[in-house]
Amino acid sequence: MKYRTDRIMAPPIPKLIEAAKRYVSSPEFLNLGPGIPGHIPPTDSLKAFGNTLLHPATHRYTFEQGNLELREELAIYLRQNWNVQVDPENEISITAGANAAFAGAIFTVLSPGEKVVIPSPFYFNSVMAVRLAGGEAAEIPVGSDFQVCYDQIESAVDKNTRAIFINTPNNPTGAVYSREIVDSLVDLCIDKDLFLISDETYGRLVYEGATHYSPRSRSDAHERIISLGSFSKDFGMSGWRVGYVVGSDEFIQEFMKVQDTVTICAPTPGQMLALDILKHSLDEIQEEIDRLSLLRDLAYLRISEIPALETARTPATFYIFPRVNGCTDSRRLVLDILRETKMLILPGSIFGEAGESHLRISIGPLTPEAVDEAFDRLSAYFRNH
Ligand SMILES: Cc1ncc(COP(=O)(O)O)c(C=O)c1O
Repeated sequence: MKYRTDRIMAPPIPKLIEAAKRYVSSPEFLNLGPGIPGHIPPTDSLKAFGNTLLHPATHRYTFEQGNLELREELAIYLRQNWNVQVDPENEISITAGANAAFAGAIFTVLSPGEKVVIPSPFYFNSVMAVRLAGGEAAEIPVGSDFQVCYDQIESAVDKNTRAIFINTPNNPTGAVYSREIVDSLVDLCIDKDLFLISDETYGRLVYEGATHYSPRSRSDAHERIISLGSFSKDFGMSGWRVGYVVGSDEFIQEFMKVQDTVTICAPTPGQMLALDILKHSLDEIQEEIDRLSLLRDLAYLRISEIPALETARTPATFYIFPRVNGCTDSRRLVLDILRETKMLILPGSIFGEAGESHLRISIGPLTPEAVDEAFDRLSAYFRNH
């Protein structure tokens, strides 16, 4: 049979997990693939959630746009963290994760045949969503420092272009785009009448004195900035499926047509837990974010001892994205690493053409001992090849 989805890449991670199946039950197996941190949501918030289990409201839909109290707390959080001013009644929708926010935004603004300009490497689900909507993704390679090249983005914009997409802090590179570059992209969108869609899922996971700059903090461009975020990573809530999208009043009204069709609303239990964390447990979240900083230091130290890997240190996320000298097929390489070291790592090629020759190593779910063990095995692997 022919399917509309034939032109979309199959979800890449399940395929790799399938390849890793025979190693997973081994006590030596180490998983450096998943894009999650090791922590779970703060205990006090989980206990408070437990007390709501018998309340009927926990088991029912919320407003399509999400629980209003959560939107209000989120508006305060966005202002305090990134100077983002947003009206919680009209300019936010809670979504079933940032993926649903991105796909919903794409279905809201993109018509078939239109183009989205995307710096590459990129988070692969973004390009899958553009293609699902019948759009074209124009991949623009980033520089060797993983920063966006403004001139290349500008020259990729043509009369068919509807939006520019950025993901900062970035998965898979860990780069944080500078305020100058983000501002210049906002100006370009104003000039060319485009949307700037900004995935800020890792906005809190920023280290080493870097700061995340949200394009939505620009008060002169609210109608063309669509910014999205997630509670999956820093709040340790990936299984609860809660994220959000921020846009103009008009955009949110249009977006709700997609959300109502697809999920109606984000899962109510997840919204309740996110609300409790925003109100009571942000200090515990910060402790987890700080703990990840120590893991990053250890991983960057250990990876610098492997001559086959060229690693540009970036200041955000729990991903490390080294280039492997002489590698032209990162998928083959990760399968070989899996066979020899019993470790699953993601190939850079699934993050776009510019990701080829790289590996994406996630240290998020590991203990410090496991990070040491993983780099011992990687060192030994590259010494022997
Ligand atoms: C850049 C980026 N955006 C969105 C997501 C998905 O987030 P959520 O779990 O909120 O759908 C991820 C998950 O890895 C991601 O890396």
